[in-house]
This record gives sequence, structure tokens and C-alpha cells, in this order.
Amino acid sequence: MGFLSTFRRSRVSAVLSGQGVSLRFPEMDDFHDWVHLRVQSRNFLEPWEPTWPDDEFSQSAFRYRIRRYRDMREDDLCYPYFIFSGETLVGAVTLSNVRRGVAQAGTLGYWIGEPHVRRGYMLKALSLLVPHCFSALGLHRVEAACLPRNEASIGLLEKAGFEREGYAKSYLQIAGKWEDHLLYAKVSPVPA
Ligand SMILES: CC(C)(COP(=O)(O)OP(=O)(O)OC[C@H]1O[C@@H](n2cnc3c(N)ncnc32)[C@H](O)[C@@H]1OP(=O)(O)O)[C@@H](O)C(=O)NCCC(=O)NCCS
Repeated sequence: MGFLSTFRRSRVSAVLSGQGVSLRFPEMDDFHDWVHLRVQSRNFLEPWEPTWPDDEFSQSAFRYRIRRYRDMREDDLCYPYFIFSGETLVGAVTLSNVRRGVAQAGTLGYWIGEPHVRRGYMLKALSLLVPHCFSALGLHRVEAACLPRNEASIGLLEKAGFEREGYAKSYLQIAGKWEDHLLYAKVSPVPA
């Protein structure tokens, strides 16, 4: 592990809060709330996500997920956060695929549980996390991609100040099918 990634990791907050939401790294204790919300929201979320594995809701798969998150954080590759309104888990946002060197970029993925949609939670979560990516993580670009028919995600990204940059053919496998995606990004306001 290089000095720079250790330094950057040490500046990343495990908790971010403001505007009535808080974000924190997932923990094993979140298992039951996470299962409850994902089961409740299955029909709503599945069309927009990679195919859910058969063991999606097993405790051992969740334990593995938590370990993998910790390892990826330590390797400065991925920073996953659960989103809370008060004590209630409402969704998640993850900065993954962190690239250093001349890129200094990462990619956002996100979801909100169906009972909690359209209450501004994800917009608030992005307004906390994206500036943190620029300041604490030192990123230069934060990217996101979404299906051209995902009006909610397009509306969210545009409202959060992301710019549409392109169209990638057969970009990601969503619900078992290779899908074209719209590419969005936000660039750090801080000059190099
Ligand atoms: C996309 C998603 C994360 C948005 O989360 P959310 O918390 O409901 O979004 P917010 O309430 O913060 O909305 C912010 C803005 O996004 C836009 N938006 C959100 N939902 C929308 C919808 N269904 N249709 C059109 N625009 C929408 C609006 O501009 C909204 O502002 P407004 O409510 O003041 O008009 C949520 O719909 C979701 O999880 N969808 C399923 C999974 C998914 O698509 N993940 C992303 C894959 S790329």
C-alpha cells in the first residue's frame, strides 16, 4: 500500500451528515434492515441493477460484502455508504472504480428503497458525497452512467449538476442484458 493511498484513505469520512440525511460505511449490524428494504423494493430495483445472485439475502453473503467493502476501502478502490434518514436505512450510494494516476476519477452507483423515493434523499446524499470526493479523496472527476430510459436517474444527475458527456453502447449488464448507457460526469471545481 503506497503512502499516498494511505494518506487519502485517512482523510475519508466514515460518516457524512447534513440536510436531514447521514451517510456511513455499511456494518454487519445493518443486515436485517438492508434485507428488509431490498426485499420490499425488489420489483422496483431489479430492472435497474445487475442480476441479483441467489444468495443475495444470506447472512454469509452480507458478511462477505462487508469484508470486501473494507478491503476495497483499504486499497482505495471503492467507498460504499448506506444512507439514513434518522435511524432508518433508506438506500445506498457507492463510489467505486477509483482510478488514480492521471485519471483521479471514480464512478457512482446508487439506489433508494421504494418506500423512500422522491423525498430528496439521493439528491442530498450526492450533495454530501460528491464534494467529499473532490476534497477528501482528491478526485478530479466523478462519473455516473444510467440507462437512457431511467428518467429518475437522469433527472437526479442533472439536478445534481452532472453533465451528459456521451453514449456508451452495450456498456453494462443490467438485469441480465447488455445495455447502452448515458454517461454523465461532474468535474472538480478546484483547479489542478
Ligand atoms: C434514481 C433514484 C436513486 C432517485 O432517488 P430519489 O431519492 O428518489 O431521488 P430524489 O428524491 O433525490 O430526486 C431528485 C431529483 O431527481 C429527479 N427524479 C427523481 N425521481 C424521478 C422520477 N421518478 N422521474 C423523474 N425525475 C425524477 C427529480 O428531478 C428530482 O427532483 P424533484 O423531486 O424536486 O423533482 C431512485 O429512483 C432509484 O433508486 N431508482 C431505482 C434504482 C436506480 O435507478 N438506480 C440508479 C441506476 S443508474
